[in-house]
Amino acid sequence: MSEFFGIDIGGSGIKGAPVDLSCGELADKRKRIKTPQPATPKAVADVAAQLLEHFEASGPVGCALPSVVQRGVVLSAANIDDAWIGVEGEKLFSKRLGRPVRLLNDADAAGLAEMRFGAGRDEPGLVLMLTFGTGIGSALVYKGELVPNTELGHAQFRGMEAEEYVAARLVKREDMKIDWWASRVNELLAHFERLFSPDLIVFGGGISKRFEEFSMHLETRARLLPARLGNNAGIVGAALAARDAA
Ligand code: BGC
Repeated sequence: MSEFFGIDIGGSGIKGAPVDLSCGELADKRKRIKTPQPATPKAVADVAAQLLEHFEASGPVGCALPSVVQRGVVLSAANIDDAWIGVEGEKLFSKRLGRPVRLLNDADAAGLAEMRFGAGRDEPGLVLMLTFGTGIGSALVYKGELVPNTELGHAQFRGMEAEEYVAARLVKREDMKIDWWASRVNELLAHFERLFSPDLIVFGGGISKRFEEFSMHLETRARLLPARLGNNAGIVGAALAARDAA
């Protein structure tokens, strides 16, 4: 079997699709449902059930979410309800959906997907993937093995959390010119390079679509590539995790 179902849980939308893992492409048009408010575990599990019903999907499911997930337990919650914290998420979802479920951090999912099918595909060394969106997500992959839950968006940088310093939403709202934003990103990349010395940095998140517009402001020692899977990276990575649950 090469088709597995992936769900990407975000603060505003929950997206799902079956993924063909022989090539990393969605096997059907993805469906998005607005994130319920409050986005409690139970309310989100109900949306996941709706998605599975819509696609008449069978088999295990992977869910990417903006949280630290350790051994199936959710330990943090960014842009989703605090009720997630401490919840045995995999157990709860498996029970509600009647099948094995794997939960994982959304940036970790995107990193796994990019390593397997995207920008990191041929990279044998250390890869740092950063996703720039509402927050900053991070995935660190060494020789194909993920170091989960790195949460570099919360690293202290210039007196605040990194994700506040370079939030991509600032560009969206036109509060900040993209080249000024990019110069902040550049400072942050230099900081992470000093700490981790990656061989490759993959630049992800919605704003990576505009990579060409600002990449001239980014100077890194490592190779720097935009993510290739765009908005589907979370779903594809979640489907990869689903396969592990099979
Ligand atoms: C969260 C991370 C998440 C990232 C991207 C951060 O605020 O703490 O867990 O990966 O946002 O959604």
